[in-house]
Amino acid sequence: MSSSPASTPWRRSTRATRTCATAATSAASSGTDQPLRQGGRTVTTTLPSQPKRSIEHGKREGFASLSQGGLNFDSFPMRLFSKGNGRQWNPADIDFSQDAEDFANMTDDERWWTCALAAQFLAGEESVTQDLQPFVAAMAAEGRLADEMYLTQFVYEEAKHTMGFRRFFDAVGMTGDLHEFIEFNDGYMEIFTKQLPDSLYALANDPSPRNQIRASVTYNHIVEGTLALTGYFAWSKVCTGRGILPGIQKLIKHIGDDERRHMAWGTFTCRRHVAADDAMWEVVDERMQELMVPSMGVVTATFDKYEGQDPPFAVDVSEMAEYAMDKLGRRLGAIESARGANLLDIDVDASPELLEEKFHAEDQEQLLAAAS
Ligand SMILES: [Fe+2]
Ligand SMILES: [Fe+2]
Repeated sequence: MSSSPASTPWRRSTRATRTCATAATSAASSGTDQPLRQGGRTVTTTLPSQPKRSIEHGKREGFASLSQGGLNFDSFPMRLFSKGNGRQWNPADIDFSQDAEDFANMTDDERWWTCALAAQFLAGEESVTQDLQPFVAAMAAEGRLADEMYLTQFVYEEAKHTMGFRRFFDAVGMTGDLHEFIEFNDGYMEIFTKQLPDSLYALANDPSPRNQIRASVTYNHIVEGTLALTGYFAWSKVCTGRGILPGIQKLIKHIGDDERRHMAWGTFTCRRHVAADDAMWEVVDERMQELMVPSMGVVTATFDKYEGQDPPFAVDVSEMAEYAMDKLGRRLGAIESARGANLLDIDVDASPELLEEKFHAEDQEQLLAAAS
């Protein structure tokens, strides 16, 4: 794929650089005209300004939850947090016994393909469980308790995803070392042992908007939004079309539900930085270009083994790549639409969540068509 900016599929029309919505930022932090919830309705009142106290890890000067305004339950991260609290599930409840039978009945090629895909997910879920943790601290450093609270749930969910895939391997009897199923894939190793940890741990020393965008694009838009989402979709299609691996189908359904909130948070985070500083849009674009080649390599490497012959389960690599690019382009379009927007609007704007729900509805339609 060409890395030429003109041909990058996620690029939309470039707009002129605008003055940023910095007035909104100062209004939000000055303590004037704060919206308050009273008796189920929102009213605006004037409160005296208070000095902002640090909640940065290890440097606590006070408590965000005790500060003026407390927590805004209408804010985007708090809404995601509440939604996630209502959608708990336990990986230990998933029964993989039929999956073990289906796995035993596969051809050698199908078993290898299944192991390669599942191992990439297992290692990926472990990576994201660990590598999100600097982002949790970065939100505290920025004084964003609501985001920090949501990210603690986010990390917990990634840990559950790790547990789910490990239980699958144990159930099908693959208890030996599984590194061979990922180490042949250079793009995978580049993303998960270098690009992802490097961009996330950069936040530990410098949680600046630029580093947050680089981390979010890598984590939310490439690893989750491009690699994982495409893999889950391909796998759902295989499982649903063939009527196999019911445990994996159930696992993916739960994970997909969690991931929609994760990706929506990533889009929201990039949107608020792009709205605050228009130069941040270029950082989004720059990071996408850096990662496009290795991330496409992750998808294609698994298929290179079958060059000249049909891959197992007749999975179509170009269909997968097209699926990934379509979702990526539309999600980046949502980020670009935040240029010049008012930050107060961004904080309560549900559009990143609605976009993920729309993608889900489209996927369901395609899966139904594949099953019929
Ligand atoms: Fe996950
Ligand atoms: Fe995730």
